[in-house]
Amino acid sequence: MTGEWIRPLICPICAQPLADYGQTWRCPAGHSFDVAREGYTNLLRRHKKLPETVGDSPEMLWARREFLARGFYEPLSDVINERVVTAVASQPDPVIVDVGCGEGYYLRRLVQRLAGQPTALFGVDIAKTAVRLAAKRGDGHGRYLVADVNAQLPFADNSVHVLLNLFAPRHPAEFARLVTSGGLLLLAMPAPDHLQSLRDRFGLIGIQPEKLAHVATQFTDLFAIQPAQAVTFPLCLENETLQWLIQMIPGARHLTPEQQEEIAQTAVMETVASFVVVMMRRGPKSHNR
Ligand SMILES: C[S@@+](CC[C@H](N)C(=O)[O-])C[C@H]1O[C@@H](n2cnc3c(N)ncnc32)[C@H](O)[C@@H]1O
Ligand SMILES: [Zn+2]
Repeated sequence: MTGEWIRPLICPICAQPLADYGQTWRCPAGHSFDVAREGYTNLLRRHKKLPETVGDSPEMLWARREFLARGFYEPLSDVINERVVTAVASQPDPVIVDVGCGEGYYLRRLVQRLAGQPTALFGVDIAKTAVRLAAKRGDGHGRYLVADVNAQLPFADNSVHVLLNLFAPRHPAEFARLVTSGGLLLLAMPAPDHLQSLRDRFGLIGIQPEKLAHVATQFTDLFAIQPAQAVTFPLCLENETLQWLIQMIPGARHLTPEQQEEIAQTAVMETVASFVVVMMRRGPKSHNR
């Protein structure tokens, strides 16, 4: 049986094209990777067990799934979708990769928005539970991979037309290797005042005010950075949704019993979601690499 190349995937061991043989993916050198029952594939190179703190825990993933499923972050997802749809409008069969995809909410909504336009979609996350959840809900749209953004990602050079990186770790040099000349890197991150009233009320950790400047410094030699877009909207949270949202916030693992009690006693809370969307274009490779 000959397999067909899963464009633009490469073998994480020898970097040759990875082909689809049904229940396994294989490269010409014979390295093979099983497709799990739920439809995702583990392409992590290392065999040692990762520490528990790498990637999101199953509890955080479930909380995010429940929260996002209620549509609270739809305005942000809509902004991302419009940007991506515009970017791929004249691109036949574009490759779109979401690095740090979590349980797959943003890719699922993007699939709906693309409404059947042929695309090669990939979700990547280091947390196996994340890609398992994403693949199960993906309804066969897209492929989901376990891989580490801090290592080499299993995609060919200059092969990704849109790379999404939403609230997830970044790897500037690797993103620059993957994104095509003229391709788009779209980042979303919390603004310094994201959920400010909620953070103040429950004494939760804040957001680095200089985060955007730091990101700009990381990417400035590799991409042409466009002006950041602020996306802000109010949230009205009942106790259950409040609890889910707080579990999504870094530091939620370390809440004191007093903080937990105060959150449990809160029936309704109003706050404001505040994000920054940053689009970056990859220039001609000979100029900025
Ligand atoms: C805050 S969550 C955001 C998830 C998703 N983008 C969303 O907004 O719903 C960050 C994600 O990055 C993943 N992550 C953390 N370290 C990673 C790594 N080294 N490589 C790939 N993904 C990683 C986590 O497992 C988690 O799913
Ligand atoms: Zn190989």
